[in-house]
Amino acid sequence: MEICIIGAGHVGLVTAACFADLGHKVICVDNDAKKVATLRKGRSTFYEPGLESMVARTLKKKHLSFTTEIAEGVRRSQVIFIAVGTPPLASGEADLTAVEEVARQIALAMTSYRLVVEKSTVPVETGRWVHRTLKSFVRKNVPFDVASNPEFLREGSAVHDFLHPDRVVIGVESQAARKILTDLYKPFKAHLMVTDIASAELIKHASNAFLAMKISFINAIGSVCERVGADVEKVAEGIGMDRRIGRSFLNAGVGYGGFCFPKDVEAFIRIAEKIGYDFDLLKAVKQINDDQRRLLIKKVEKHLWNLKGKRVGILGLAFKPETDDLRFAPALEVIAALIKAGAKVIAYDPCAMPEARRHLKGVGFAKDPYELARGADCLVIMTEWKAFKELQLNRIKKLMRQPVIVDGRNIYDPIEMKRLGFDYACMGRSGAV
Ligand SMILES: NC(=O)c1ccc[n+]([C@@H]2O[C@H](COP(=O)([O-])OP(=O)(O)OC[C@H]3O[C@@H](n4cnc5c(N)ncnc54)[C@H](O)[C@@H]3O)[C@@H](O)[C@H]2O)c1
Repeated sequence: MEICIIGAGHVGLVTAACFADLGHKVICVDNDAKKVATLRKGRSTFYEPGLESMVARTLKKKHLSFTTEIAEGVRRSQVIFIAVGTPPLASGEADLTAVEEVARQIALAMTSYRLVVEKSTVPVETGRWVHRTLKSFVRKNVPFDVASNPEFLREGSAVHDFLHPDRVVIGVESQAARKILTDLYKPFKAHLMVTDIASAELIKHASNAFLAMKISFINAIGSVCERVGADVEKVAEGIGMDRRIGRSFLNAGVGYGGFCFPKDVEAFIRIAEKIGYDFDLLKAVKQINDDQRRLLIKKVEKHLWNLKGKRVGILGLAFKPETDDLRFAPALEVIAALIKAGAKVIAYDPCAMPEARRHLKGVGFAKDPYELARGADCLVIMTEWKAFKELQLNRIKKLMRQPVIVDGRNIYDPIEMKRLGFDYACMGRSGAV
């Protein structure tokens, strides 16, 4: 198939490269000329395992190409995926300006039938607006369809997730759209669910809201555990063995971050409000998540007393391992609070350092965890990178000014940390302080 993907970001670029690798002819459009220039050289603009080699390979085979012109993409394709960002507005609602602008430009460029697919995460009823925008700007008698095909990939394993999804959800309102998208996804060994557009849009928001709820739920349980000397890791294991519940996303810690959960939970609350439903449950999910950051700072204060002038090392900046994505990363909030309290903050991340140097002001950077530990009064674990689980903790302890570790991701064993002589605080575990 000839496919156009608009937006060469974390979702768009992965989608483009994967479809191209499956043999389709894909043109990827982005309005950031610098990004397009980098991509044309076969280089990825962000870190994602396996992505750069796939981009280079498919470019070389001429299955993939890049442009800044939506019109060119529309001319050369039958199916057009919109994968631009839908960031939060100050009100918490999703900013759909880019989606609308792209829809308008697609309409202006269309001369014959096209299928326009929402891939971006959008509030329910966006499909209707996209349809209306296309209808307003398209030339007379040019037919089109709108569909929804939400994406469930996880950053850090995006290529694998895209190619091996649990399910593919397709929201369509015509037989033509249904046929194109079911043909496109036929080679995927996944359950294909075909539904109406509004249900497909809701499936995405409801999935992210549910996963965020699981995280906040176990964090609430963690707060109870701390008060009675129980261990949230054991509780999570125990309840997770129930197949109706499952163990995944029951990881207590500093809470969720990234470009999806915070904005999608917020946007879902707002869209529900707009249509007359007060989504109190999701408001609590968000509140618990915000509280986890404050809880972590309290733990640092409890161990260091005054923060002013104390040297605090942040281990991990990315919102999760295997990515350099700093968007809405919990580390950023924690760093801001520590700096505000007068601490001297130094940071290290195995992957996100170039991004961090560009965006973080007033923070020092270390070249590795051991340099970070030198002279530190406290280390704070913010991302559960595998490399942090394998640190030589004896060496770390010798380098620190005070052996304090506040573990926002529960990556160490509290008993072992005590044995090694650390003042160790973690989240929701027995002995956690
Ligand atoms: N990041 C994830 O893990 C993930 C997973 C599933 C769904 N989503 C959703 O997918 C959408 C995109 O997210 P992302 O993380 O890929 O964002 P991103 O910021 O990484 O990428 C968006 C891209 O769109 C481009 N763009 C913006 N406006 C444009 C325009 N008018 N014309 C052409 N290009 C334009 C930007 O330059 C950028 O490269 C969001 O709705 C997000 O919620 C993200």
